[in-house]
Amino acid sequence: MKKITINDLIKWKQEGRKFASSTAYDASFGQLFEQQEMPVILVGDSLGMVLQGESSTLPVTVEDIAYHTRCVRAGTPNSLLMADMPFMSYATPEQACENAGKLMRAGANMVKLEGGDWLIDTVKMLTERAVPVCAHLGLTPQSVNIFGGFKVQGREQEKADRMVRDALALQEAGAQIVLLECVPQELAARITEVLDVPVIGIGAGNVTDGQILVMHDMLGIAANYMPKFSKNFLAETGDIRKAITKYIDDVASGAFPDEAHTIA
Ligand code: KIV
Repeated sequence: MKKITINDLIKWKQEGRKFASSTAYDASFGQLFEQQEMPVILVGDSLGMVLQGESSTLPVTVEDIAYHTRCVRAGTPNSLLMADMPFMSYATPEQACENAGKLMRAGANMVKLEGGDWLIDTVKMLTERAVPVCAHLGLTPQSVNIFGGFKVQGREQEKADRMVRDALALQEAGAQIVLLECVPQELAARITEVLDVPVIGIGAGNVTDGQILVMHDMLGIAANYMPKFSKNFLAETGDIRKAITKYIDDVASGAFPDEAHTIA
């Protein structure tokens, strides 16, 4: 796979070419994904749940993400590698700069932050200092205690309108990707249309420019839990490489997510 940059994703958005992405946490899976031409990989703080067995992402530290970013980067020199900024690691713009520096030095090409317009100064500060930012909106799992659970966001008109405004403001502040998690498909379509930057969705329907899945869900690794919007591609193919290729192809053709894996 050739080296993927944000410019490729912008071009694909303009061409209407949909792309897949996945989380990864180690060099072996990073390499496997790169061999199957997965263009974007996220070292997600979901590692707190799927690797560490925690009930939320809150216990994850900057050191955890930096360690796994280094591991994944070793296996995937060419993907666009995003690293999650963990809970409370960007409470102020200064903290964000210090901690984002650690993740960029570990090999990330971009950092991902959860939150709306309160992040504008932080996004400006990071991007002006050459740290590319992905802004995560919708169900932001670090806010699970504010939301009272892992719940769909943006169903009410006023909240949907606010999310559109936040997405535009974050783009204006310098965010180069917006990630939408667990929002109604109609809202995801609205945000994808108004933004110039690529929008990656999870649980947001097949209307976004890209899709992302937690790799443990995509491969059906968690025995007793599967989010409604996710799909076990390994069950269908019986082979890890074929499962990854099927996921990438189904995203590209718009076959995934289908109606059964979409939040109305
Ligand atoms: O941490 C993570 O894996 C994520 C994805 C669910 C997008 O943020």
